[in-house]
Amino acid sequence: MNPIVQVEDLKKVFRTQNFGRVSKITAVEGVSFTIQRGETLGLIGESGSGKTTVGRMIVKLLNPSSGHIKLDGHDVTHLNEKAFKPFRKRFQIVFQDPYSSLNPRMTVLQLLSRPLSVFGIEKDRKKQRMKVIEVLHDVGLHEEHLNRYPHEFSGGQRQRVAVARALMTKPEFIVLDEPTSALDVSVQAQILNLLRQLKAAHNLTYLFISHDLGVIHYMCDRVLVMYMGEIVESAPTEELFTSPAHPYTRFLMESIPDPDPELTNEIDYVNKVKALQSTYGCNFLSRCDRALPNCFDRHPELVKLSSNHLVRCHNPLKEASVWKRDG
Ligand SMILES: Nc1ncnc2c1ncn2[C@@H]1O[C@H](COP(=O)(O)OP(=O)(O)O)[C@@H](O)[C@H]1O
Ligand SMILES: [Mg+2]
Repeated sequence: MNPIVQVEDLKKVFRTQNFGRVSKITAVEGVSFTIQRGETLGLIGESGSGKTTVGRMIVKLLNPSSGHIKLDGHDVTHLNEKAFKPFRKRFQIVFQDPYSSLNPRMTVLQLLSRPLSVFGIEKDRKKQRMKVIEVLHDVGLHEEHLNRYPHEFSGGQRQRVAVARALMTKPEFIVLDEPTSALDVSVQAQILNLLRQLKAAHNLTYLFISHDLGVIHYMCDRVLVMYMGEIVESAPTEELFTSPAHPYTRFLMESIPDPDPELTNEIDYVNKVKALQSTYGCNFLSRCDRALPNCFDRHPELVKLSSNHLVRCHNPLKEASVWKRDG
């Protein structure tokens, strides 16, 4: 059977203008991976590492600068919106912040009926309403919520509405881009459990994007670690957490997960590091305590440590680490 998602050598360069000066940012650089049907693949890395850009390219909300995307074996890289429409129905995305992703002027009924009309699934208003109620129940909401607007819900409920909207077209695959990062910790757990239940009930496949290791550990079968637009490590979840091989992965595991106050600092930091990078050598060099002469001269390739564990490092870690989720 085909992998449900295959990306090959994906690259994305953004061009931005600042007071007339054009600058280029390489957000994603040579990323390749596959996602098998039924798995939850995690994508982790600090803010600015290119996770969202990868997620958006898969569902063609962004076009790659180069490389290829295959969905269920079909190369969709160069399809126009019309030709991509059948895939858009099957491959959905849920964003971090339901406040900005849900139109504030539409009721839940309108928000959730819309995909049924747009994709020609159901035109009849009464039947649309029935389908919407069914999906609302799936996400733990009820008929009484039909005529409410997004702002009338709590953060967790709003994310339930966003998940319901993604489910309306009966998708096979969903990109979940930091789906719980904007929520309180207690609510986070409820939404994560809901996502796990929905996956089992509807045979879904997820690409789960997060900067939170605890969340990734709980949700994912396999994990890709991104740093400055590249995959620097990939392994089955348990193996990654017990024996991280890249110094950056270990760094993530040792950092205390308290992202919000530091988010802007982190972006600044990564951007500064980026500016300092030479064209040679390893991207992680300036933050690494294991650098060898080789690391200054040669950009490391992603190589196999074992059949399912890859690492981009000249001097990978070998000792097992002890990772514990606190709390
Ligand atoms: N639309 C855009 N225009 C210009 N630069 C962008 C755009 N989107 C993302 N970037 C840049 O690309 C890099 C990766 O961003 P992103 O994919 O959002 O990372 P992440 O999701 O890991 O935080 C960052 O440096 C970001 O500033
Ligand atoms: Mg992001």
